[in-house]
Amino acid sequence: MLRESRSVTRHNVSAGELALPACTIHLVAVQVPLSSIRRGRIHTFEVRGRPIIVFWARDRLVVASEICPHIGGPLGEARLEDDGCALRCPWHGYKYDTASGAVLENPNERFVQKRLQTAYASYRPAQPTFKLNLLPFEIKDGMVCL
Ligand code: FES
Repeated sequence: MLRESRSVTRHNVSAGELALPACTIHLVAVQVPLSSIRRGRIHTFEVRGRPIIVFWARDRLVVASEICPHIGGPLGEARLEDDGCALRCPWHGYKYDTASGAVLENPNERFVQKRLQTAYASYRPAQPTFKLNLLPFEIKDGMVCL
């Protein structure tokens, strides 16, 4: 069950009045029952127009952007590994640590190493500087507030 509530307040400002914002939008977070987050599965939600993923990593709940930080792969279709402590993107296979967001494995590394032994012996590949975009959340009264 998802609940999203929005309240929109519009202010009509006549000429000469203090220029207040014409529109104030309050967004209440999406709330998801904690009991609906099944272990071993990645749940995808849209929060404020952005896709996010929610899943268990052992006894820790993880909330992150659904967009892979490499080049935008769909992490809602990713594979959970190590009991959810790692997440592997379906597009290029980067493996992320779900606690820190750091890249654990670059699947292209073995191809780079093979090339290094041949034509590019002096080449040193750069380490990825991007991370899984972990997001804050709260658990209140059995609901995950995103
Ligand atoms: S887009 Fe995810 S690994 Fe490339």
